[in-house]
Amino acid sequence: CGIVGIVGHTPVAPLIVDALKRLEYRGYDSAGVATIEHGELARRRAEGKLVNLERKLHAEPLDGTIGIGHTRWATHGVPNETNAHPHFSNGVAIVHNGIIENFAELRDELIADGYNFASQTDTEVVAHLVSREMARGAKPVEAAHKALKRLEGAFALAIMFKGDEDLIVGARNGPPLAVGHGEGEMYLGSDAIALAPFTNSITYLEDGDWAVVRRNEIAIFDMDGNKVERKRQQSIGTSFLVDKGNHRHFMHKEIHEQPEVISHTLGNYIDFTNGKAKALELPWDFAKIDRLAISACGTAYLAGLIGKYWFERLARLPVDIDIASEFRYREMPLSKNSAALFVSQSGETADTLASLRYCRKEGVPIGVVVNVRESTMAREADVILPTLAGPEIGVASTKAFTCQLSVMAALAVRAGVARGHISPDEEQKLVKQLAEAPRLASQVVKLEEQIEKVSRDLAHHRDVLYLGRDTNFPLALEGALKLKELSYIHAEGYAAGELKHGPIALIDENMPVVVIAPYDRIFEKTVSNMQEVAARGGKIILITDKKGAEKSTVNTIDTIVLPDVPEIIAPILYALPVQMLAYFTAVFMGTDVDQPRNLAKSVTVE
Ligand code: G6P
Repeated sequence: CGIVGIVGHTPVAPLIVDALKRLEYRGYDSAGVATIEHGELARRRAEGKLVNLERKLHAEPLDGTIGIGHTRWATHGVPNETNAHPHFSNGVAIVHNGIIENFAELRDELIADGYNFASQTDTEVVAHLVSREMARGAKPVEAAHKALKRLEGAFALAIMFKGDEDLIVGARNGPPLAVGHGEGEMYLGSDAIALAPFTNSITYLEDGDWAVVRRNEIAIFDMDGNKVERKRQQSIGTSFLVDKGNHRHFMHKEIHEQPEVISHTLGNYIDFTNGKAKALELPWDFAKIDRLAISACGTAYLAGLIGKYWFERLARLPVDIDIASEFRYREMPLSKNSAALFVSQSGETADTLASLRYCRKEGVPIGVVVNVRESTMAREADVILPTLAGPEIGVASTKAFTCQLSVMAALAVRAGVARGHISPDEEQKLVKQLAEAPRLASQVVKLEEQIEKVSRDLAHHRDVLYLGRDTNFPLALEGALKLKELSYIHAEGYAAGELKHGPIALIDENMPVVVIAPYDRIFEKTVSNMQEVAARGGKIILITDKKGAEKSTVNTIDTIVLPDVPEIIAPILYALPVQMLAYFTAVFMGTDVDQPRNLAKSVTVE
């Protein structure tokens, strides 16, 4: 899931491992590095975390001054040392992110040609393809280009050759890849964060690009072999240190950063002093469109789902919301009068990007709510609606989510004004309420001690149910998603009203049910659902406010009481206890909170 390459002049293996550490946040299950030692390819690979690779390098160091490294998130073949990258074939070394879709066909062809496969990966076909071109007489660069033309699917690649200690070929079609410009030293990496210790002068490759990286120059070509010019940018990655501060986990740090980053983000969309939603330059006119299509994956999708409630309620703008992996193949008819909004922390998620490109083809104006401004989605959209969450390292999204919500709430107010459903007075009131979110968030974070206690009990259960109505329904989904991804406890989120149509069958005295229900216009309805749970012995953990705690007539095992919050920002604030509950439960379970098993931060495969 992460690639690093260095054409340098000192031993590069330790530098590559350091850079890979900066990509650790993306999630991975094995790692490896290869260099050229006295004219021969050499590699060290290890299953599991980078410390295992470091141990190997310590026992058997590599001294080469050119090298490629990789952290792998398994797609084809289990995560073990044999399947870890780099893969070799007769003097060709290769690392790869993504999936080679025609690998089975290529593999058969290569086997028929006498090539032996050491691993179960799709990557190894690329190594053999390149080395076969060389065996047929091609020079390294030409061999790489010929092999690339045979590949279908998504890939970011770095290729190194035994006979040339001044050459790495990089290629991109899908997953991001950047080249870094140094002084007499050049680099390749999955993102600017990885390359930050070496350089902040970066060029992102575009899809279909491939690059010839040498100590003193970098040349970029398209698939037809024409030289292309790509913009060099100053990356902002350097100012960022991968540092947990005093926190035990990045996730904990990121939960605590929320009051601040929500405030930064909101500042971009609302004017606190005059109480107005800022006029944004949008490629669509909210007053004129008749539909908005939202699409995203994972936690970002749930932010979109909450967005739907806001846009429909505040702006009377109908929203179609889809999980991006469905949207991209659903062939949804889009009217010319609609706009599309994509939500993504990384801006690289393959399914979301494909959905964006579908809308591009349909000729619909495109906005992205995105955290990484240098990302592919940011580059391809008509408008970037940034979340200012700062780098999010924990694989499970927290602060990016509440910032996505902040953007969407502000945008819905803006849409409401534009469509004439919100009067200037109401706008002022709503903006004032939005502006309260950071202050209230810092109060909610203080509930952490109580939530930690509740989590201690939750950690003893195998299944947990989350319920909520209205915008608390997506939060129930988010609570269940967070709990299962972090603690591996099975959890389900349901619309509270749907309980009686199925999940109620699961309820007995062993089933904890987390109910998210601030005191609002449908609170009583949720109380009825809690009664149904209580009548069957279910253990209720209620997340509510003072009034809700007072008015609820149901026995709970725990009640987490938030300050009173205006309705529009309730989803932002109620997200916090939900995150903390999952976080502390995972800590009690002893799981790898920042990098849960099998998960990746930025999923650039389908
Ligand atoms: C992965 C992460 C999730 C994230 C999702 C979408 O599954 O583990 O936390 O919500 O991808 O990522 P994006 O970068 O598009 O927001």
